[in-house]
Amino acid sequence: MVGAALSDLEFVAQSIIFIFAGYKTTSSSLSFLIYILAIHCDVQQKLQEDIDATFPNKAPPTYDTLVQMEYLDMVLKESLRLFPIAGRIERVYKKNMEISRVFIPKGTVVMVPTFALPQASEFWPEPEEFHPKRFSKENKDSINPYLYLLFGTGPRNCIGMRFAIMNMKLAVIRMLQNFSFKPCKETQIPLKLGPQGLIQPQKPIVLKVESRDGTVSGA
Ligand code: HEM
Repeated sequence: MVGAALSDLEFVAQSIIFIFAGYKTTSSSLSFLIYILAIHCDVQQKLQEDIDATFPNKAPPTYDTLVQMEYLDMVLKESLRLFPIAGRIERVYKKNMEISRVFIPKGTVVMVPTFALPQASEFWPEPEEFHPKRFSKENKDSINPYLYLLFGTGPRNCIGMRFAIMNMKLAVIRMLQNFSFKPCKETQIPLKLGPQGLIQPQKPIVLKVESRDGTVSGA
């Protein structure tokens, strides 16, 4: 019913879904991002310089400034390309369809391999390499959005996408203002991924964390 308020049960159900759909996806994506920065210290350093210049003396990030941080956006998008947490999405055909001479009957479940598409060498040069400049202002419009479906697409795409992106950007700014991340002898390079539904490393990611100046600021 249009305009009807949520019942208590619906409210609890929605809240639980947000926690299930939002917690592990965001925290794992952030872990992969920190890992990739640790093994690409040039990118980490450039990002730290950008953060320090944008928010001097570890100033708390503000929304308006944060959304304009182009390099941070490029780094996050490239990390999500290499590690697209939800490895696939599915859709059910509501009616019979023919696509490229393939008949797909109503009721068929079609799986879209969101993990494989952003790694396909016919569409991405050096797909296994971490190149944030793929997502620079000049390049990003040449990317086919259907090859980059980390948050799904259409009316049932991820409802938490903007929140997740903002959350991860805030977290990475706060972490890089205070710490630098480096690989250590336990760090697995290259990282091997496990077979689970949500993309996860086979072994926990272990990194060395160094305080940048001995002080920590910000929650
Ligand atoms: C890095 C973080 C996240 C990633 C990579 C991610 C990815 C996805 C993907 C791929 C889908 C399926 C979309 C489709 O089928 O087209 C999805 C759905 C969904 N996500 Fe996220 N998500 C993230 C964070 C979040 C957060 C923070 C929330 C909530 C606060 C959330 C809530 C949901 C919900 C409720 C759905 C189901 C939407 C529907 O069926 O209409 N997600 N997400």
